[in-house]
Amino acid sequence: MRTFKQTGFNTLKIAIDGPAGAGKSTVARRIAEELGILYIDTGAMYRALTWKALQSKINLSAPGELHQLARATVIDLQDNGHGMRVYCDGQDVTTQIRSPEVSRMVSVVAADDNVRQVMVDKQRAIALRSDVVMDGRDITHCVLPDAEYKFFLTASLDVRTMRRGQELQSQGYEVDLARLKQEISERDQRDMNRKVGPLMITPDAVVIDTSDIDCEGAVRKVLGIVREG
Ligand code: CDP
Repeated sequence: MRTFKQTGFNTLKIAIDGPAGAGKSTVARRIAEELGILYIDTGAMYRALTWKALQSKINLSAPGELHQLARATVIDLQDNGHGMRVYCDGQDVTTQIRSPEVSRMVSVVAADDNVRQVMVDKQRAIALRSDVVMDGRDITHCVLPDAEYKFFLTASLDVRTMRRGQELQSQGYEVDLARLKQEISERDQRDMNRKVGPLMITPDAVVIDTSDIDCEGAVRKVLGIVREG
């Protein structure tokens, strides 16, 4: 028997938003594992499209080109039991989409209204079919405004920069922390200030600041709330 709060949906929805490097993906993946439900990393979808846009060298500022690309691209997220893999038109791009080049351009691609519409439609279609933990920037107020549980994960810019720097170093990148901090801050600004689906805290979201707690601490907080119903 289900022990979670339910509103309208016949499937469980957990929506998590927050800025870059707040720990959303790690926390969301662990929550999904604990509950045995699907995890959708919507940032990975925008990243995969950005990777393809950079590969195909399309003109990012030409009206319609990104929209056309978004409609023609098949993005697939698959959990093979050893973490999530991201496929773009059948090609595994899990590693490529985390590159600094993609990180620099993704918020430009994600600011395109038509691109967002294509992505949001795909994300809602997935959520209609199954219980899901979904993380991103617009999940609590745009993709799943009726989600039973909404969280906003955040942390100080310095902590987020340190975390992202460590991640990148472990992937073999050389990291200039001052530049990384500047890039994260610019991405946050672009994500917060765009017209459609901006990053924001909704009044019904529980804010969790992960500056002084590790991801497991955040996971425990989220699970405590979800299991309480
Ligand atoms: O992992 P990180 O926190 O760096 O970001 P991400 O979740 O991979 O998202 C990368 C970028 O995609 C964000 O900076 C946004 O520009 C965009 N994004 C978005 O616009 N809407 C979403 N629901 C998810 C990501």
